[in-house]
Amino acid sequence: MAVRHLAETQPDRFSFSPENEAWAERQVARFPEGRQASAVIPLLWRAQEQEGWVTKPAIERVAEVLGMPLIRVLEVATFYTMFHLEPVGRKAHVQVCGTTPCMLRGAGEIIDICRTRINEHPHHCSADGDFSWEEVECLGACVNAPMVQIGKDTYEDLTPESVEALLDAFERGERPASGPQNGRQHSMPIAGATTLTEISYADDDRPSQRPRATSGSTGAVHPAAPPASPGAVEDYVAAAHLREKRAGQRGDAPRATGGADPRGPATEAQEIGRVDPTGRSDEAAARATDDAPGKPEGHSAGVAHPEDTRTDADRAAQPRSDRDSPRGDKEG
Ligand code: FES
Repeated sequence: MAVRHLAETQPDRFSFSPENEAWAERQVARFPEGRQASAVIPLLWRAQEQEGWVTKPAIERVAEVLGMPLIRVLEVATFYTMFHLEPVGRKAHVQVCGTTPCMLRGAGEIIDICRTRINEHPHHCSADGDFSWEEVECLGACVNAPMVQIGKDTYEDLTPESVEALLDAFERGERPASGPQNGRQHSMPIAGATTLTEISYADDDRPSQRPRATSGSTGAVHPAAPPASPGAVEDYVAAAHLREKRAGQRGDAPRATGGADPRGPATEAQEIGRVDPTGRSDEAAARATDDAPGKPEGHSAGVAHPEDTRTDADRAAQPRSDRDSPRGDKEG
């Protein structure tokens, strides 16, 4: 990563626009007396939005507004790559993540495209001044590698073709949709769920009746595995949160997941908005399946802990919140 320092050529002065000056005052007022320095990043960001990059006079102005030593603001501005310390392309400044996961997944090809289309050298604008690029360290989207950041947005799961398409769009003055560029949602496996696959949401979709995904750390999925229903995981998490919320309202002690709603599954289903034709929530239906006679004792997902050697009678004699721990003591 390049050493970050202020540009050699700087403007003479900087002042926030009247609108941004008022905005800055509101930001500073949000922090307690003596803690105004907490507004340093928002103010630097606003200065960058106004000027296109963070100039030395802007850093001095921010230090003045916040009553901070200049060196403290310089430290912040030169540490974070989100702050551009020299002029960048008018239409897009492409920050290419070059850390290991992205590099292993093709960041080198993205850099080659930037060298060809924008400028051979990072931190230099294209001939028309519209684009610039640089290589930065991990931007926290490794699971969607390779990726770039342009302005506030990240563009992920890139290929050479999608990078070219992105640059074309910015060149036309468009603002392409951010996020994965290969069609997947966030960081979900593109070919369907590879975890929590034991949870069933419909009687005709029980784990025993569908092929299991055979994923490894790469997220590859067995071609025969059908995609999980799009909202399945969200619904499961929503139901868990709902139970925790109700437990908190009742003052219950925290418990392991999998407890039934005391008002019955139909009420729970109505609240989370998923009811099957029998009146059960999808999750309640899954629980009923898990609790069916002949099913092994274990967690609500129907998976017994391999070290759990207790009998059904042992487990029934324990308080509910202790049952899911194979050692008989409370978890977490
Ligand atoms: S390695 Fe590229 S986002 Fe983390």
